[in-house]
Amino acid sequence: MRIAIVTGASSGLGREFVRQLEHFYRELDEIWVIARREERLVELKKEMKTYVRVFAGDMEQSLVYKQVKNRLENQNPDVRMLVNAAGFGKIGTVSDVAQEDKNLQLRMIDLNCRGLTEMTCVCLPWMSRGSRIVNLASAAAFCPQSGFAVYAATKSYVLSFSRGLGAELKDKGIWVTAVCPGPVDTEFFQVSGSAGSLMKESVMAEPYDVVRQALLDVREKKELSVYGAAMKGAEAAAKLLPHSLVMKAMEKWGR
Ligand SMILES: NC(=O)c1ccc[n+]([C@@H]2O[C@H](COP(=O)([O-])OP(=O)(O)OC[C@H]3O[C@@H](n4cnc5c(N)ncnc54)[C@H](OP(=O)(O)O)[C@@H]3O)[C@@H](O)[C@H]2O)c1
Repeated sequence: MRIAIVTGASSGLGREFVRQLEHFYRELDEIWVIARREERLVELKKEMKTYVRVFAGDMEQSLVYKQVKNRLENQNPDVRMLVNAAGFGKIGTVSDVAQEDKNLQLRMIDLNCRGLTEMTCVCLPWMSRGSRIVNLASAAAFCPQSGFAVYAATKSYVLSFSRGLGAELKDKGIWVTAVCPGPVDTEFFQVSGSAGSLMKESVMAEPYDVVRQALLDVREKKELSVYGAAMKGAEAAAKLLPHSLVMKAMEKWGR
């Protein structure tokens, strides 16, 4: 049995991956979806032609990983693709966010870094030649960001982890792609609490386009998927210029 596993499938990019996967990878027998909001996952299941198996659980807790692992052990499927999309951010300085909720930034690190790593480790034994791992990093991974410091650091982890893992798995024919979009029109900004800015509005992308580009890049075994000219420019700037300069420019542009 060939399956794909998608975390963060109840909204935004994760849900869009599920929708597009059944067209990109017609050989899939099942898609396993993970998020806390079960009703959203059940809605998604109803609209899909491919069989969707729902795992409703909090990836900041251990239970859902055990449930996925048990199901993998029982069914012994070939995991053709893992999409790690679950994640969140919170706009604000480190001290402001900590004052508002002392655990929030630690939870962010837990989900964005530990959760993604744990789900990858759970799935790896069931992956084989040609399998793909797709990790949702962000353009925020390219350079530190003041006012979004913890989130940007978690995404740098995702980018670095993806590259290192990709190098480890190359000989096994398992390909890892880090997806690094700029702002995308999802529920992300409701959760992150951003009021929005001219900069964000001018480069805001649609989930459909970002995921389509990502799946094309995944097909081509690219280690990085960056959607849009503005974010490709940001990536180049972060490579070529001192980060202090890029950070200043982003602060000005972001206002
Ligand atoms: N939108 C952007 O501008 C943007 C840009 C770059 C990168 N990204 C990254 O892309 C990924 C997807 O974000 P999105 O834009 O699609 O945001 P979103 O619409 O808010 O989706 C986030 C997903 O993560 C799930 N999730 C959150 N906390 C969870 C938890 N504790 N356990 C299990 N699932 C959890 C949510 O499901 P439940 O709430 O149902 O659990 C939801 O399905 C994230 O990693 C984000 O950092 C987003």
